[in-house]
Amino acid sequence: MTPEIPHLPSYEDPALDAAFEALHGEVATRSARITTLEERETFRLDWLGRKQGRLKLIGDAWLKAAPAEARRALGLRFNQLKQAVDAALERKVPDGSASRSVASAVPKASLDLSLPGLVRRPGTPHPLLETMHAMVKVFGDLGYSVNLGPQVETDFYNFEALNFPPNHPARDTQDTLLLANQSGKAARDRLLMRTHTSPVQIRTMVANDPPLRIVIPGKVHRNDAADATHSPIFHQIEGLAVGPEITFSDLKGTLDHAMKAMFGADVRTRFFPSFFPFTEPSADVQISCIFCGGAGCRKCKHSGWIELLGCGMVDPAVFAAVTDERRRQGRDPEVYDPRRVSGFAFGMGVERIAMIRHGVADIGQFYSGDLRFLEQFG
Ligand code: PHE
Repeated sequence: MTPEIPHLPSYEDPALDAAFEALHGEVATRSARITTLEERETFRLDWLGRKQGRLKLIGDAWLKAAPAEARRALGLRFNQLKQAVDAALERKVPDGSASRSVASAVPKASLDLSLPGLVRRPGTPHPLLETMHAMVKVFGDLGYSVNLGPQVETDFYNFEALNFPPNHPARDTQDTLLLANQSGKAARDRLLMRTHTSPVQIRTMVANDPPLRIVIPGKVHRNDAADATHSPIFHQIEGLAVGPEITFSDLKGTLDHAMKAMFGADVRTRFFPSFFPFTEPSADVQISCIFCGGAGCRKCKHSGWIELLGCGMVDPAVFAAVTDERRRQGRDPEVYDPRRVSGFAFGMGVERIAMIRHGVADIGQFYSGDLRFLEQFG
């Protein structure tokens, strides 16, 4: 049976309107009668069939013969009719059969196996996270556990307990971002964005008895202008080991091992005297340049060495602050008596290590979200 299509007396708008109104009417009455999946399939073939479907016939008879100036008006109405048919096919079949959408009713022949498939690309860790995880794993393998702390920190944990007395010039080196409206509080409770991960040393010791070995990865904030090597938000990895008879040799051996594990067994380390209020003695650690092996190149400014981290032996003043705070909180204060325990701490910048590991010249690339940059680490 060949379905009929209405007669089109002319391509004037009123004639088009009348013809399409009739067709819409048919779509409505016929689709209203559909009660089974079979009937819906008949309806679908009747309208959308590739050879004898009405839309095909209308296209052949009307669209092809249409004068150029009527094409738009005709095409518009044709598309509306097609949408009405599609909408009718979307509706649920009342007999309760599972609703099948138009998509599943598309003839098999339209499945084009030559089309490219949908590629789902798995995400990859961001180079900063990857570096952080690699470093945490090095210490995890040495028996360190991981601890985290808040980024909004109190003056007590960020400074005071770490032996930065109020108004001490060492605080100026930290370019601290302070929170507003803190002046009503006691100095030790005033909030700020932590400038380093070291406050988590204090939090860890206040909450846990020695011996302990802990690594602390996290985000830190400083009022620094962004340039090729600085960002106001960056990441650090802190380490702390406390127990009976921990020595500077332990610190040296641990960091030497960690740098070799991270950068290769050929890497050498050297320790320079430095200063941090919370470690005594303190040192800056350099590794032999991983680009030239120590011969001198542009990357190491022809020195053969790259400075990577700060470290030192936990200052007795820090143990004293921990002891006070533990007493205040009702925890055994004696266990951090510097006559019973000693310890070392270290801290390093994750961005700096990631830049060296991956040869990244501008720190801003880590935060740009540019896939062309990030995909290189996949
Ligand atoms: N917290 C120091 C900094 O941010 C680094 C450090 C950590 C130094 C632990 C010594 C011991 O500069």
